[in-house]
Amino acid sequence: NWLLMTAGLAATAIAASIPALADDPILIKFAHVVAENTPKGLMAERFKELVAEKTGGDVVVQVFPNSQLFGDDKVLEAMLLGDVQLAAPTLSKFGRYTEVLELYDLPFLFEDLDAVERFQQSPLGQEMLHSVEGKGLIGLGYLHNGMKQLSASKPLRTPEDAAGLTFRIMSSEVLEAQFEALDAAPIKKSFSEVFMLLQTNAVDGQENTWSNIYSKKFYEVQPYITESNHGLLDYMVVTSAEFWNGLPDETREQVAEALDEALAYGNQIARDKAIEDKRKIAESGRTEIIELSDAERAQWVEAMKPVWQQFEGQIGRERIEAAYSANR
Ligand code: LMR
Repeated sequence: NWLLMTAGLAATAIAASIPALADDPILIKFAHVVAENTPKGLMAERFKELVAEKTGGDVVVQVFPNSQLFGDDKVLEAMLLGDVQLAAPTLSKFGRYTEVLELYDLPFLFEDLDAVERFQQSPLGQEMLHSVEGKGLIGLGYLHNGMKQLSASKPLRTPEDAAGLTFRIMSSEVLEAQFEALDAAPIKKSFSEVFMLLQTNAVDGQENTWSNIYSKKFYEVQPYITESNHGLLDYMVVTSAEFWNGLPDETREQVAEALDEALAYGNQIARDKAIEDKRKIAESGRTEIIELSDAERAQWVEAMKPVWQQFEGQIGRERIEAAYSANR
């Protein structure tokens, strides 16, 4: 009869649709806030290619640069809701999930990326990748950007020059304390707003790496950049535990392998870009790069370093000591 026939047809349709569903690729949306031509942007594109290769198309990565999908203030919440599967916020942006990563924001902690690398690859550094696990996130690895420079609407040679100025900062308590130590006024704002804030003089300055200053054209609206190398801007690649643990074992291994290779590639780019983008900024003639004498630099260290003590309790003294001793 008619009813039975319809039911039979429906059952056939459902059965037929099951293999089609199983063949659908797994989608990884990777959201980030920087330009494509940066260590993170290029790492993301490389990751996408490597995942396609290694999984034979079973997993498809879709990259959303320039805060197109989520800004760093929203991306981790969105990840826990399943709206995005991969992100790589700066280590400064995990304050709501863990305090230990604040270590990486301490001013003048690391002398260069080699020291950063030594610490991150040490057992203590690797253990810190797990610090977000209780919150439903999984840290898959570190990615470098580089050392931060200070840009402003006036020349900054000594810490006194920064007093009274407003600086855009990432959402980090340590960075807030760092600028307060200079008697400056830090304002937490998302990365997508920085150019406009600088262009309209809503803030006087900001801190960032050469590649971010170049790719987002901050140097066109900041007449002075002090080569301070005062802090680190690095990333943690994160996913949600629900997504990651739900992947078939073999697929998870392939994706993890793709990520490791992409991170090695991105880390090399970070080193190259710090040199290349600084040179391009210098050649543009749009801004003056201020080099500090040893005596001037010592003044910045003296002004900012008390921040270490302020955060020792929540970061852990042994972590600070281990990180500092990675400088050799
Ligand atoms: C910033 O907000 O200044 C940086 O975190 C942007 C980035 O992801 O490098």
